[in-house]
Amino acid sequence: MSSSKTAIHFVLNGTKVSAEVGTNQNVIELLNQLNYRGARESCGQGLCGACTVLIDGVAFSGCLEFAAMLDGKEVRTIEGFEKDGVLDPIQEAFIEAGAFQCGFCTPGFILMIGQLLDKNPNPSEDQIRHYLSGNLCRCGAYPEIIKAVYLAIGKRKTSNSLHQ
Ligand code: FES
Ligand code: FES
Repeated sequence: MSSSKTAIHFVLNGTKVSAEVGTNQNVIELLNQLNYRGARESCGQGLCGACTVLIDGVAFSGCLEFAAMLDGKEVRTIEGFEKDGVLDPIQEAFIEAGAFQCGFCTPGFILMIGQLLDKNPNPSEDQIRHYLSGNLCRCGAYPEIIKAVYLAIGKRKTSNSLHQ
């Protein structure tokens, strides 16, 4: 049986990318092939959130999506959060709060927190916990992650007021 490849073209963190993808290749395998290793395959079943990527602004589990479906889409990964060497406020907040141990889950959490704060800049703790319920941290850094969300909220407010 011949293994067929498909040419796809998409935008990855603002840069146009072309790739040849296999029929059964998933999004994480393609990102790894392109040396983007922030989103990681862990459970491989859509249960842990470690493989979260944003496709046209919507969060997907990269382990469950075929790479071929990226054709013509805009993809954002954790590598797109830093701008010109400056960390995003959510990344800074994670460092300040010590919101990780092994860091395996961290990119997925940061992407989801970015989505949450874009939609709701002042979420309650219940809303934060609910929104992040699809992201698992095996190291149990949940209290520090919640703390990081509040730190990020403050940093975003400061940054917005400085730019007004
Ligand atoms: S690796 Fe995709 S959800 Fe766990
Ligand atoms: S910091 Fe290790 S899994 Fe979350």
